[in-house]
Amino acid sequence: MRILVIGGGGREHALVWKIAQSPLVNTLYCAPGNAGIAEYAECVPIKVTDIDALARFAEEHSIDLTVVGPEAPLTAGIVDKFESMGMRIVGPSASPAQLEGSKIFSKRLMQTYGIPTAEFHICENQEDAELFLHRFYAQHPPHTPIVIKADGLAAGKGVIVAQNREEAHASIRAMMFDQVFGEAGSKVVIEECLFGEEASIIAITDGFDVVPLVPTQDHKRIGEGDTGLNTGGMGAYSPVPCAPSEIVEEVLERILRPAIRAIADLGIPYRGFLYAGIMLTETGVKTIEFNCRLGDPETQVILPLLESDIVPLLLAVTDCTLAQVPIRWHNYAAATVVAASGGYPGDYETGKVITGLDKVHEEQNCVAFHSGTRLEEGQIVTNGGRVLSVTGIGASIMDAVANAYIGMSHIQFEGIYYRGDIASRALRSSQ
Ligand code: AMP
Ligand code: GLY
Repeated sequence: MRILVIGGGGREHALVWKIAQSPLVNTLYCAPGNAGIAEYAECVPIKVTDIDALARFAEEHSIDLTVVGPEAPLTAGIVDKFESMGMRIVGPSASPAQLEGSKIFSKRLMQTYGIPTAEFHICENQEDAELFLHRFYAQHPPHTPIVIKADGLAAGKGVIVAQNREEAHASIRAMMFDQVFGEAGSKVVIEECLFGEEASIIAITDGFDVVPLVPTQDHKRIGEGDTGLNTGGMGAYSPVPCAPSEIVEEVLERILRPAIRAIADLGIPYRGFLYAGIMLTETGVKTIEFNCRLGDPETQVILPLLESDIVPLLLAVTDCTLAQVPIRWHNYAAATVVAASGGYPGDYETGKVITGLDKVHEEQNCVAFHSGTRLEEGQIVTNGGRVLSVTGIGASIMDAVANAYIGMSHIQFEGIYYRGDIASRALRSSQ
């Protein structure tokens, strides 16, 4: 088979790494890929949002199956385009991808179908938002936290957890007047601030069957102890002690299956991966967000734990035969640690030479997945905020984390930063 993976981050490196292990695959392409992906796949310099060029490439190269990593091409309709040309592709079409592409769409759907989530108010303009906040703070003390979400895609940065009235008003001004997230913030959702442990429960679905992958927990903040600015994700691990199988089952029954049924009711089946970001609150499981794809860096721990060949699963998604393909998992733990460029998630420099990747390769229990890297004059150099992650596996989370850090200790580049406390919540709860 000839497979094309779309994307160029750590998630796509993990996908390509896993797909390359399948005996069903003989040719693998990735657009645009990165320096690590180039080890397994031919990298094609086409942007993930250049849907016409990607479709032309797939047609000209007789691609049998395309797998989409990031959300931008999904919400822009890549699946609709490929399917209209009779090509197989894994991912939801543009309309159901609105579950991630529009917070307003997603919240309305959850409300209509009784999917548990935070109380919310939709604001179509700044005046409406300011008025809502005035009313809210007339009934609550000024230091009550509240959450402001830009409606559209904002590269994972469109959510502000405002700690008090002042911050809430400032966030509304930043999004709706200064337009810091551009068009994405022209409408916002203001919602109740929830408290509790978070987990990512991602399912694979053909629109009928919904099969959960192993649960993961992501570390969104840049600083140790979950402090500082939000990032794309600085590490992840699985299993998650706060999300045992009963919780996964509950998320499946109360969140993921109802969402997929709701989408089917709208007339377009949801196929691909559906990611529920959940919070385990005192009053039960609540949905924080939906994503229409696999997570990054969650995928870097999920796929090393997947024992089954991934290709039959991906094919079953497009054929609506997922019920016939069993999914098996290794009975061990995985943890991934992300190394970022100094300054990230603010400004940072690129082009720094990365050393030590060969030593990670020699380690038995870890694997490096590249996020932002490129080849320059025969050397691998940094090319993004999140540069690479090292995933460790082991019999317990503690072993997996230790192996990830052993791998990471070999990696060097100027300005390297990574958190030293990945999975610390899980390690605390298992003591
Ligand atoms: P999102 O981009 O929707 O994943 O949100 C980013 C982060 O903001 C989440 O991982 C949560 O930590 C936080 N967050 C989002 N919504 C809420 C909420 N209603 N209450 C508390 N924290 C939230
Ligand atoms: N790690 C969070 C995400 O992929 O959205």
